[in-house]
Amino acid sequence: MSKVRRIAIAVVAVAVGVVALLLVAEQRQGRDAKPLPGTALRVLGPQRAILVGTAVRAAEMRDNRAYRQLIAQQFSSLTPENEMKWALVEPERGTFEFKFGDYIVEQAEKAGQSVRGHTLIFDSQLPGWIAELDSREVRQATEQYIRRVVGHWAGRIAVWDVVNEPLTALGELKRTPFPSKLGRGHIATAFRVAHRADPKARLHINEAGAEAIGPKSDRLYELVRELRAQGVPIDGVGFQVHTNLGGIPPTFVDNLRRFAALGVEIAITEADVALKLPPSAADLRAQARVYGDIVRSCRAVKACRQLTVWGFTDGRSWISELQPGNGAATILDEDLRPKPAFGAMQRALSP
Ligand code: XIL
Repeated sequence: MSKVRRIAIAVVAVAVGVVALLLVAEQRQGRDAKPLPGTALRVLGPQRAILVGTAVRAAEMRDNRAYRQLIAQQFSSLTPENEMKWALVEPERGTFEFKFGDYIVEQAEKAGQSVRGHTLIFDSQLPGWIAELDSREVRQATEQYIRRVVGHWAGRIAVWDVVNEPLTALGELKRTPFPSKLGRGHIATAFRVAHRADPKARLHINEAGAEAIGPKSDRLYELVRELRAQGVPIDGVGFQVHTNLGGIPPTFVDNLRRFAALGVEIAITEADVALKLPPSAADLRAQARVYGDIVRSCRAVKACRQLTVWGFTDGRSWISELQPGNGAATILDEDLRPKPAFGAMQRALSP
């Protein structure tokens, strides 16, 4: 065989190999999403002045085409489910990992979506090295972290959950080693540092289980009132609204209204409705009513401008992953088909 011929064969073999690899990669991306019925949530939301968002997972967006397509079609705002948490962003002190968050921000920008940054100060999902620092070092590391991370995405994150779940069930400031090591006033400092790092980002405090008027939301209300009175740059309050067939408390709308009266914007940030597995058809209908109630609660309060679900498919939801016996908490099933809850959200958002 001539040398030229051998080279030609080698080139063809390499080309075939590359094409095969590309095909395999393409296959692994899976099928296109089946179109969902009716008008997309991201189209309906603005008619009610509500930005409809979802929590997303970067790796899943990268590897699963249908998942990625539905995010682009249905939602106007993305919240990284874990990718912007401290343990993931600064696993070793001084070593930053931005690529997963970057990917989500880039995808959002391509699809004309905004990003909700989640989250800066949180007592969960912290890097291990924090535990070894004394109080002064923790304060320093926290401020550096906020400056670095908010600065990294400055101008590209519409809203930051600056402080996440600061209160206990009774409304006391949490006294775990972190963030209590930061000392009193750490919440105000976090907001001030974040504001300097990205003056355009709107800064929220985000809380779990503060939907009803009661001890916890009373203390949250006092905290937000004080921060505003001190001139701390806090723009809004996020209510997570992780719930179940117990539904949303009857005082939810009044609660939102009293916060709104402080001059802050309101967001529903992590809505989901957990069911006992396996759910019956009646459970799915009851779940749809709860999703509808959540949308209507936001609609009832002018300051409620954003409603984010904590994942949109039962195949990718923290409830099924972390709460044994519970699941089916989202609006699409594991195969990305609409559940009654999806239609209920559409109806509740329709003019
Ligand atoms: C959850 C994620 O969904 C899980 O994937 C992770 O393992 C644990 O954290 N409140 C919050 C979110 O503010 O950050 C939590 O997210 C769910 C409860």
